Amino acid sequence: MFSPDEFSLLIEDLSLLPSISPSSRRLINRMDDPDVALSEIASLIEEDPGLASRLLKVANSPFYPYSGKVGSVREALIRLGLSSARAIILATSLFDQVRKEPKVFDLWAHSLAVSVTCRRVAAQLRFPLVDEAGVAGLLHDIGKIPYYMYAPELIHRMDRDPSPDLPDYVREKDVFGLSHVEVGARLVTAWRFPLIIRQPIRWHHDPRSAPGEERQMVLLVSLSDQIAQGFGLGHSEVLTDDGTFLKVAAELDLSESSLLYLMKEILRDRDMIRERSGVIL
Ligand SMILES: [Fe+2]
Ligand SMILES: [Fe+2]
Repeated sequence: MFSPDEFSLLIEDLSLLPSISPSSRRLINRMDDPDVALSEIASLIEEDPGLASRLLKVANSPFYPYSGKVGSVREALIRLGLSSARAIILATSLFDQVRKEPKVFDLWAHSLAVSVTCRRVAAQLRFPLVDEAGVAGLLHDIGKIPYYMYAPELIHRMDRDPSPDLPDYVREKDVFGLSHVEVGARLVTAWRFPLIIRQPIRWHHDPRSAPGEERQMVLLVSLSDQIAQGFGLGHSEVLTDDGTFLKVAAELDLSESSLLYLMKEILRDRDMIRERSGVIL
C-alpha cells in the first residue's frame, strides 16, 4: 500500500512532465506564453507527425459540431482553441503511457463522452465557458492514470473486485493514500490549469460541497459524468450517492424538458463516441 506522502512524491515527479517527449514538453511550455503566435505553435506541432495527425482527427471529429473539414494544423488550432489543444496534448500523452492496459481504453472513451456531454450541457444552459467545460470533462478522471503507471497490480485488483456500495474515490484513498480526485487536482495544478478546470476535477464526486465561483462548472461536470455513465459510457466507476443527479440538475436549473432534450442528443452521440475514440488515442 502507498502512503499519501509516497504517492504525492510520484505525482510531483509526473507533474514535471518527464513522461512526455521533449518536443511535447517544449510545445507545452511555449503554449503557456500568453503572447505566443499561433503560427509558431502550429510549426512546433507539425514537427511531430503523430501529434499533428491526432489534433487533426480531434478537430475533424463530430466532437466539434461545426461543418466543414479542417486540413491543416493551424486550422485545427483555430477550431479547438489553444487551451483545448493543450489539454488534449497533455491528456493523450498520459493516456499513451498506459494504453496497453485493458481498462484504460474504457477510461479514454468515458473521458471523451464526458467532454462531449459537458459541451452539450453548457450549450443548453447558455453557459459562456463551453470550451472550458469540454476541457474539464476530458480531464475529470485524469487522476486515475497514475495508478496504472505506478501501481498496476493494485488497481487491477480493484478493477477485478468492484465494490457496489463504496464509491471508487473512497476505496482509492484506502489503497493509494490519495483518491483520483486528489491526484487529478494535483496534476492539473502542476500543469497550470486555471481554477475553472481544477475545481471540477477536485469536486466532481462531491459537487454539492464545491466551494467558490466555480461551483456551476463543478455541477455541470458532475452531471455530465453521471449522464455518460447512465448511457453506458462509463468505465467501471462507482459514483456518487443516490439522488445526487436530480439535486445537481435542479441546482443547475435544468428543466425536465431540457434534460429530455439533452438525453436525446447524447444518445445520438453515443455510437459516434464509441466508434471514434479508438481513432484518436
Ligand atoms: Fe471520477
Ligand atoms: Fe468519470
